[in-house]
Amino acid sequence: MNKRDFLKSAATLASTAFIPSVGWAFPKGKKLRTAHIGVGGMGGEDLNAFASHKSVDIVALCDVDSIALDFAKSKHPNAKTFSDYRILLKTMVDQIDAVIVSTPDHTHAPASLMAMDLNKAVYCQKPLTHSISEARQMAQMALKKNLVTQMGIQVHSFYDYKLATLLIQSGIIGKVNCVRAWSPKNWGYDGTPPKKVAPVPANLDWNLWLGTAKKHEFKEGHYHPGNWRKLIDFGCGTLGDMGVHIFDTPYNALALDVPKTIKNECRPPNGYGFPENNKVTYIFPSTKYTSKELKWVWYDGAGAPAKHNDLVLPDNEELHEQGAMFMGEKGKLYLPHFQELPKLIVDGMYQELDVEKFGLGKPVRDYESESKKHYYEFVDSCLGKTNCSAPFSYASRLTETILLGVIAGRFPGKTLHWDRQKSRFIEKEANQFIGSSYRDF
Ligand SMILES: NC(=O)c1ccc[n+]([C@@H]2O[C@H](COP(=O)([O-])OP(=O)(O)OC[C@H]3O[C@@H](n4cnc5c(N)ncnc54)[C@H](O)[C@@H]3O)[C@@H](O)[C@H]2O)c1
Repeated sequence: MNKRDFLKSAATLASTAFIPSVGWAFPKGKKLRTAHIGVGGMGGEDLNAFASHKSVDIVALCDVDSIALDFAKSKHPNAKTFSDYRILLKTMVDQIDAVIVSTPDHTHAPASLMAMDLNKAVYCQKPLTHSISEARQMAQMALKKNLVTQMGIQVHSFYDYKLATLLIQSGIIGKVNCVRAWSPKNWGYDGTPPKKVAPVPANLDWNLWLGTAKKHEFKEGHYHPGNWRKLIDFGCGTLGDMGVHIFDTPYNALALDVPKTIKNECRPPNGYGFPENNKVTYIFPSTKYTSKELKWVWYDGAGAPAKHNDLVLPDNEELHEQGAMFMGEKGKLYLPHFQELPKLIVDGMYQELDVEKFGLGKPVRDYESESKKHYYEFVDSCLGKTNCSAPFSYASRLTETILLGVIAGRFPGKTLHWDRQKSRFIEKEANQFIGSSYRDF
């Protein structure tokens, strides 16, 4: 089934006429009624964060795993429960204002597009989608329908990242010519699909978990929970996991669009799991914060990052496990991931930074309150009080960039050229990986 048919069937499911339910006209004093799709794992954290906002009413919960669903229900006894998000959206279309999508990546777009088609505001976990065409479609639909949207990259709203953005945009290191970013995490898998058909536990609806993805035989612990990240039909590897968080600040600070070329130096593809180590080099067109071109190098997997002069710290200090380094005309800015202040390095020495002069006040080190900001920004945007800082218009470009690196992993060592206008690679053989086909389920 293609996406158009998928949405058509969503539209017939929901017979209610078009009524914009969120935005500037949201009635004063009314609570935002949220529906949560995926309430285990990160979905549980998302649920707690939204529930802590005084203007939120949790009205619907959906999970394909009854253990996760029952646990969420025990905390929100008044919410209605579902295992199929299509049924949730159909039956509760008039009783919800916003939908939170916290499922594995392959279900982000199918669930979010259906919710947006029904004029709901959507908070969708990162990476925005599993394919580039889905990311573009999400941004287009949000724009066309003028919906409040936010991607779940909560560190986007943390003090240190906002500060790094302001520092870079203030020109503290001049025009930036290169960014190096890294994570030693490994969401790769060099194995084959499970051969034996294993019984699906009674608490899991495997068909609904697979959703629009190709049929796979179930194996305990192999996909659900969490390990789907390693597999190309469901996740986006380490780039889609840590990459999105660590890319976000340089991407935002430098006001980047999508890259012109992409090269991934990794092992040959096996058609099933992602590479264990990726070194991705992107070249971006210039912006007002960069030199003529910007080179961006991403390293992941054990041993990341590879040694490089740009990554040498004063007194040969050890690099943080994950982070990003901006190289500029006047020095470099080091941004450890996370809850660490950015550090300015000039001529191989750390420089004092008067961080409070950037208007953000004193540094905040409280994860609990910091992480709520991003969620609250979404709620308050739905209530017409502010705007989201990671709407789908932004999130789709960032996700497209991430996914270009993932696709380049299918062609190790080869430089791919991306035509952003046509949404096509010059290298025709890569174009088959831009979209996704949907299984009827
Ligand atoms: N922003 C962050 O810091 C952060 C951290 C972790 C995960 N994430 C993102 O959150 C999402 C979920 O990751 P996770 O680690 O929690 O995965 P997980 O596999 O641990 O949990 C996913 C939950 O969704 C449920 N689910 C799966 N398919 C569903 C469907 N079709 N309908 C309803 N429920 C469904 C599962 O049963 C499970 O409860 C991913 O997109 C991931 O990238 C974000």
